[in-house]
Amino acid sequence: TKAIYCESIANPGGIITDVEALSSIAKSAGIPLIVDNTTASPYLIRPFEWGADVVIHSATKFLGGHGNALGGVIVEKGDFDWLADSEKFPIIATPCESYHGLNFAEVFGKDGPVAEMFGTKGKTGMAFAIAARALGLRDMGACISPMNTFLIQMGIETLHVRMERHCANATALAEFLNQHPKIEWVKYAGLESDPGYKLHQKYCPKGAGSLFTFGVKGGYEAAKTVVDSVQMFSLVANLGDTRSLIAHPASMMHSQLGDEAKKTLGAPPDCVRVSVGIEEIEDIIADMDLALSKL
Ligand SMILES: Cc1ncc(COP(=O)(O)O)c(C=O)c1O
Repeated sequence: TKAIYCESIANPGGIITDVEALSSIAKSAGIPLIVDNTTASPYLIRPFEWGADVVIHSATKFLGGHGNALGGVIVEKGDFDWLADSEKFPIIATPCESYHGLNFAEVFGKDGPVAEMFGTKGKTGMAFAIAARALGLRDMGACISPMNTFLIQMGIETLHVRMERHCANATALAEFLNQHPKIEWVKYAGLESDPGYKLHQKYCPKGAGSLFTFGVKGGYEAAKTVVDSVQMFSLVANLGDTRSLIAHPASMMHSQLGDEAKKTLGAPPDCVRVSVGIEEIEDIIADMDLALSKL
């Protein structure tokens, strides 16, 4: 095992991960904890404060926020010791032939000359981020376009305002669904009755995010009817848009999996996933109510 990889708020079910517990396992095994913080955004959860070593984001989602630009972010805390077990991390911690024998961890790590130049020697380096960027660019040409960068940076300026509204709207919609007679279950850590509520209070007291799932009475076909009947929600697999989005994982993103795997991953046949937008909550609830009235 080379790393532990998790999401801070897991997609599709909005389940909040106990990052601190995972970090203590990773530390005792001498491996990094990599946290995909896409669904929470840095406004809700700051994984480094709970022991993560690397944080990644699909900036396509909440950071950009408007569903109009593709991009991604890798942030490295910088104090992981890759050289302590260089055999385990050969790409970063042994000489790289195609870069004339450069050892990323020695040169860009926390004890190397680059950290010394930046005045962070012994504390923080950037070996993982530099290796990911240089090798990804070399092997796959991964390079964000200037327009996407501009749109994502513009989006980040309003992240805090959007996230507050996303969370308030998600809570109100979850409460509405939780008492609706056509709904079997609601899985949202922002509800006091949810098993994840305590983790929400610990890791993201400002809000449990805007992504959650619910089960529709009537199973697969009923869930499909709901996602096909909404008028304001967009039926797409994306999340983290200012507009409310809806999906039926069992027939869309998770359709290639068997029934057991779908259930384990929180995407059973009756499950509908929403990424609640920042529209007026009355409009969001009215649209959902209309769709449920078709059942
Ligand atoms: C949690 C999470 N991380 C990463 C990604 C990948 O995002 P992108 O499409 O920007 O590569 C997705 C996409 O759905 C996601 O939901």
